[in-house]
Amino acid sequence: MMTNDDVLILGSGIAALQLASLLNRDLNVRILTKEKIRTANSYLAQGGIAAAIGADDHPSKHVADTLEAGRYHNNQGAVEEIINAAPMLIKFIAEQGSVFDKNKNGELLLGMEGAHSEKRIVHGGGDATGKNVVEHLISTLKNNVTIDEDVFAYELLLNADGRCIGVKAKRPDGKIKNYYSKNTIVATGGCGQLFTYTSNAPTVSGDGIALAYLAGAEVVDMEFIQFHPTLLYLKGETKGLISEAVRGEGAILVTENGIPIMEGVHPLKDLAPRHVVSQKIYEYLKNGHKVYLDISNIENFTQRFPSITAICEENGLQISGGRIPVAPGSHFLMGGIKTDLFGRTSINGLYAIGEAACTGLHGANRLASNSLLEGLYMGEKLSSWLNDAVKEDELRIGGTSQFIPHEKVILPTKQEIKHSMMERVGIVRNEVNLKKQKAWLDSFEVHQIKNLDAYSFEETTKIFMLMIAKLITESALKRTESRGGHYRSDYPMEDDQHWLNQSIIHKNSWGM
Ligand code: SIN
Repeated sequence: MMTNDDVLILGSGIAALQLASLLNRDLNVRILTKEKIRTANSYLAQGGIAAAIGADDHPSKHVADTLEAGRYHNNQGAVEEIINAAPMLIKFIAEQGSVFDKNKNGELLLGMEGAHSEKRIVHGGGDATGKNVVEHLISTLKNNVTIDEDVFAYELLLNADGRCIGVKAKRPDGKIKNYYSKNTIVATGGCGQLFTYTSNAPTVSGDGIALAYLAGAEVVDMEFIQFHPTLLYLKGETKGLISEAVRGEGAILVTENGIPIMEGVHPLKDLAPRHVVSQKIYEYLKNGHKVYLDISNIENFTQRFPSITAICEENGLQISGGRIPVAPGSHFLMGGIKTDLFGRTSINGLYAIGEAACTGLHGANRLASNSLLEGLYMGEKLSSWLNDAVKEDELRIGGTSQFIPHEKVILPTKQEIKHSMMERVGIVRNEVNLKKQKAWLDSFEVHQIKNLDAYSFEETTKIFMLMIAKLITESALKRTESRGGHYRSDYPMEDDQHWLNQSIIHKNSWGM
């Protein structure tokens, strides 16, 4: 059995849904999602969407903050274009429904987050921005869009011209099916689930990036992983995000003795860029301290942050205590499949948008609330391209992969992958640990695998996790400096001379 569509979208976050919603009605569009339509990082996003719309704000200030947070490793053209588009993207959604929070005069309320020089975070439902936007976009989908849930795309189909013509996918029961399409879009997010502590949805472990990499697409900047400073931390486990907007409303990070930890560390103190705050919290935790968000000075906390209140209460923590125990965890991948602003990759017919893509917007560290913005922008931009282009060519099917029998390799557990990545390739890295991790990853010999058909849903996920873990580890080993989300204790300084504009690009060397 096979399907044949105009546009095939892998993933169901904000970039995917924005694209599906804006594609012309006469195009057959199919969304494949590994779990359910709402299982995506976007749905969990709390803080909001950054846009320079305040009276004292200007896109040039938003650009400057984005470059500073990205430690100037950004693609400045991409930064300017996306940030200049932000006010219009917000206006478009705000005019269609009650997605965002407004004051009594009907003006959008603007919050503050780390490393922003102005209040410019548009939010919805207090701290349920992602959920509000996703629900809105789902409600705008027309009947030209089919949604197939519980489908795991694990191989890109290329024809004899090297053009992408769809994907091979499997269901949890092992059934395999080819989905042909004139255009295939990877919108599967980043890879937060490679680490023990993470804010990411359970499915976000790098599948789409691995898939594109295996087919020969260029993958870039994989060493730049953002660790969000504040995940709820109870009994040695992280339980969900505590938005940076909480610090934007005045919460401060303190030790168990109430000592503020960000004093004298950075001029922006608790609202310093995320890598600075995460590294400081990590240092305290490693030295046996506990770190808390002191929220006692925030009035109406439960009204402003209903989702966070619910997360805390579900985990047995009463907000009235005024303190939330926190630890940093992986949150966002700045790197990904190398694309231009239309999401075009190095493979004809294959596009990537949202966190799976790397346009260079985020540089070495993403500015808070620029990710939903990038998703909205890329979904819109790619829709404009496909609405014009898609009807032109007929699909030439053929030349897809052959099954080559081989012995299945032995795989580690997911916990072993996550734990080793957190310990050796996490917030603080060094050559010894990176080499240890590289040797451990190499020992599974997944590069020997010639075809993934014989592997289960779970095994294929682990193979992709190992593959992405290896790209991150190798990049982190190569980049002998510290910059943004990549911190090496053996090279603690930025090295502009060698690395400022230097990106590490990977092309498939696995032979699959
Ligand atoms: C947050 O609410 O702190 C997360 C928002 C983001 O990652 O941009």
